[in-house]
Amino acid sequence: MSKRIGILTSGGDCAGLNAALRAVVLRARHGYGWTVVGIRNGTHGLMERPIEAGELGDDVTETAIMRQGGTILGTTNKGDPFAFPMPDGSVRDRSNEVIEGYRQLELDALIGIGGDGSFAILRRIAAQGGINLVGIPKTIDNDLDMTETAIGFSTAVDVATQALDQLQPTAASHSRVMILEVMGRDAGHIAIAAGIAGGADVILIPEIPWRLESIRQRIETVKARGRNFALVVVAEAVRTAEGDAATVTNAGGAVRYGGIGQYVAEKIAQSTGAETRVTVLGHVQRGGAPDARDRLLASGFGVHAVDLIAQKKFDRMVALWNREIIDVPLADAIKQPNVVDPNGPLVRTARGLGISLGE
Ligand code: F6P
Repeated sequence: MSKRIGILTSGGDCAGLNAALRAVVLRARHGYGWTVVGIRNGTHGLMERPIEAGELGDDVTETAIMRQGGTILGTTNKGDPFAFPMPDGSVRDRSNEVIEGYRQLELDALIGIGGDGSFAILRRIAAQGGINLVGIPKTIDNDLDMTETAIGFSTAVDVATQALDQLQPTAASHSRVMILEVMGRDAGHIAIAAGIAGGADVILIPEIPWRLESIRQRIETVKARGRNFALVVVAEAVRTAEGDAATVTNAGGAVRYGGIGQYVAEKIAQSTGAETRVTVLGHVQRGGAPDARDRLLASGFGVHAVDLIAQKKFDRMVALWNREIIDVPLADAIKQPNVVDPNGPLVRTARGLGISLGE
């Protein structure tokens, strides 16, 4: 039987979202003969009147779409429909408007491409409105549980690794300690992976408390071995010596991580006398063209998500486990954040390579 399925991207953008949209449209249109409706700006498109959504046609199946960063549907990481900030300063529950929008589009199921925050909201909306929901995991932070990885993580690690590659010549030319602050929210996955791949001497992640003395010793050892520079990677959620998070406040009042790189750089300069420079990598980790791994993941996830709808398996998230694409209960994926295991394989590798984790 022919179906109409909706799809939206939600939360922060990342590389590979368009590749997932393309895969869903290919599988649904050409595999099953279904119609795919793209909803703009996450759940916000369903709240708007007229509803901001439109049928996704064969132009979305072009290979060029797969190569593009960002999301052609738009997205948002603000404005929870259950506590929506209104222009007059009040906060309103607009979840029923989202559900009404979904009904007006006469959809049979909804695919949400998102991270933990988006999935928590989408599950609540789905339960309230009787919506058949399937999730596709995306997050550069890689902090969703029940999947080895999510769309966008691999590309973000690649970008951070390339940044280290490009910092190294300047570090060596000027005998400097270069500090690279990377994203990842409360998880140090990007930092540990890129730090190892990019040859960092020190990697600080929020999961492992750090001591300045340990960093100082590592930098002295590097110097004693005849190297005139060092590379340091700091995850954005690493705490100061006093245990505080370094944050910045957006114009709208929302607080996000930022600034710990500068803090660590000053401490290193004071304790070692080294000349330090800081690079805050920021959103370049999110917007680029997806690497091959993210394209493969997005393609596999997109196909599997549509197949789940065909099998009437809902409230599930597609996932990667032991190189297989599987599906898991959405509730389990967001029960707890997946952070770096302080004794896990990458941490053991880093320790084995003599990289300081600040311990
Ligand atoms: O969750 C993805 C992420 O890029 C985090 O790594 C980062 O802390 C946050 O989003 C930044 O959010 P924004 O795009 O609102 O600055």
